Amino acid sequence: MTITMYLVITLLLITISAYLLSEDALSIFDCCSKNTDTSDGLQNNLLYNKTFNIANFSSCPDYARNSPFNALSEAHVKEAVSRKVQLRWKRFVSSVSPYPENKFSGRGIVSSTSSGLNGCRRLLASLQLLRWLNCTLPVEVYAYANELEMHEIRNLKAIQNVTLHIIKDKVILKNRKKSRFVIKPFSILQSSFEHVLWMDSDNIAVNNPEYLFDLPHYKNSTAIFWPDFWKTSGRNPIWRMMNIRCREEDYEQESGQLVINKRLAWKALNLALYLNSDNDIIKLIHGDKDTFRLAWRSINVSYFFIRTHLAIGGFDLAVAEKSGATSNERTFCGHTMVQHDPLGKVLFLHTNLVKQYPPIQGLIEKNQTIKQNKINPWRVYIGYTNTIPNMDAVVFFYNLYVCTTFTNRGNSTWSPLVEQDFYNLVPVSITEKYLSYLHGNLIKSNKFRKIRIIDRHWQKN
Ligand SMILES: *[C@@H]1O[C@H](CO)[C@@H](O)[C@H](O)[C@H]1NC(C)=O
Ligand SMILES: *[C@@H]1O[C@H](CO)[C@@H](O)[C@H](O)[C@H]1NC(C)=O
Ligand SMILES: *[C@@H]1O[C@H](CO)[C@@H](O)[C@H](O)[C@H]1NC(C)=O
Ligand SMILES: *[C@@H]1O[C@H](CO)[C@@H](O)[C@H](O)[C@H]1NC(C)=O
Ligand SMILES: *[C@@H]1O[C@H](CO)[C@@H](O)[C@H](O)[C@H]1NC(C)=O
Ligand SMILES: *[C@@H]1O[C@H](CO)[C@@H](O)[C@H](O)[C@H]1NC(C)=O
Ligand SMILES: *[C@@H]1O[C@H](CO)[C@@H](O)[C@H](O)[C@H]1NC(C)=O
Ligand SMILES: *[C@@H]1O[C@H](CO)[C@@H](O)[C@H](O)[C@H]1NC(C)=O
Repeated sequence: MTITMYLVITLLLITISAYLLSEDALSIFDCCSKNTDTSDGLQNNLLYNKTFNIANFSSCPDYARNSPFNALSEAHVKEAVSRKVQLRWKRFVSSVSPYPENKFSGRGIVSSTSSGLNGCRRLLASLQLLRWLNCTLPVEVYAYANELEMHEIRNLKAIQNVTLHIIKDKVILKNRKKSRFVIKPFSILQSSFEHVLWMDSDNIAVNNPEYLFDLPHYKNSTAIFWPDFWKTSGRNPIWRMMNIRCREEDYEQESGQLVINKRLAWKALNLALYLNSDNDIIKLIHGDKDTFRLAWRSINVSYFFIRTHLAIGGFDLAVAEKSGATSNERTFCGHTMVQHDPLGKVLFLHTNLVKQYPPIQGLIEKNQTIKQNKINPWRVYIGYTNTIPNMDAVVFFYNLYVCTTFTNRGNSTWSPLVEQDFYNLVPVSITEKYLSYLHGNLIKSNKFRKIRIIDRHWQKN
């Protein structure tokens, strides 16, 4: 960090401390608009076509290394800065007004979306699938005014019990480029529900998720959170700033899905929104994902953290690219984070790296019948067994694809991996249905395309 940057940050801190935080949680952005979003740089890097291996996983607190998404995790932050940050969020927490009785009620799904990268079309397919799965939960979708096409708005409204909210909050609009992740906690807070299931627009539920609200895991706490691949370094100043101890066993959080009881976690949720807009905090963590567990932990609010390790769904690129590829040409490309319910069953497919796969973009061959194998990006499930404490994963590039996979460092004792036909865990009828909805949305017509997956039985060798 250069001296200039340091001066700028110090000045910012002085400026920020001068503000009194408003009682209205949603107007905190008045004070915190000068974010420098370091994660954008990484997103851009990911688009470059070059191979790179990310740093090995580190366990907390022994290793210095962290996930590749935390470039600044070991930034040297002066003790005085940490203390000021802590003072700011504590002051914020004490300013949060009590949970508003009679304002929120019931259960529902909340999401946000835009046209970019087919985001809305993928959300549409995911919502259509939820209805097909007999999920009747009302859905509230948040979006910025100019980020959806008319036909997308029409299609969203055409799904029963889906409400679209265009965000008009001026302060959020003004700052959205700098803190683009605030939309998540903002939408959850704004939504009319007391019990919220948040789903990213690229997240697919493969079962009606409503039962989550009835599980003891939710009922005896205030939220259910899901794990990421990573562990945050013990040297990350975030621990000092949030005044919590780094625990060796804790995985980072993957916030593509969240279940939150707003009544019981009102302060923690408001704090999560605040953390997403604090200049010093957002430099140390990747996007919004960890702001939830950090907020909950720092004010000692209980949550249930899914214990089944995050698994990877994907396919074999060599097989997908050319028929007749031999087994030693196998290149597993993982593009979907496979998340499980509290009982260990696959529930969410967070398809965050599948955007660049041509069939997902709607680039389907005219003559689908003979190319059916190529339209199915989900063939292999790879995960760790539940018995080991750490995972090791890499990100690499293969042509235009960004892929993830696990490694065992050549030590099978250390990391027993399980590899399965994807359809042992997710019924093929669900993938077919999702792809049919997606392609219906992509071709911008109501013509329903019947997708039939014929390569269900992926063979290891
Ligand atoms: C990961 O760790 C292994 C074993 O400790 C080491 O050989 C390898 O070079 C490391 N990879 C990276 C990218 O740091
Ligand atoms: C949805 O409900 C209908 C009517 O009860 C039933 O026939 C159908 O099998 C259900 N669908 C799923 C995916 O469970
Ligand atoms: C819409 O919501 C109503 C009221 O909650 C419910 O009875 C109905 O089944 C829902 N419809 C769908 C298709 O989800
Ligand atoms: C809540 O219930 C779940 C499931 O029964 C259990 O695993 C968990 O330990 C419980 N948590 C608390 C705080 O009682
Ligand atoms: C956090 O909450 C738990 C359970 O409510 C309580 O036992 C514990 O003492 C609290 N810890 C702190 C540091 O307040
Ligand atoms: C399309 O696929 C069918 C087989 O399903 C084949 O008979 C036909 O020749 C193909 N057409 C083209 C243009 O490739
Ligand atoms: C990406 O890399 C592959 C293999 O190295 C190469 O064949 C391809 O031309 C590259 N694509 C672009 C767009 O640079
Ligand atoms: C493999 O991992 C186990 C468990 O961590 C360790 O005890 C063993 O030394 C490792 N073996 C090699 C060859 O690295």
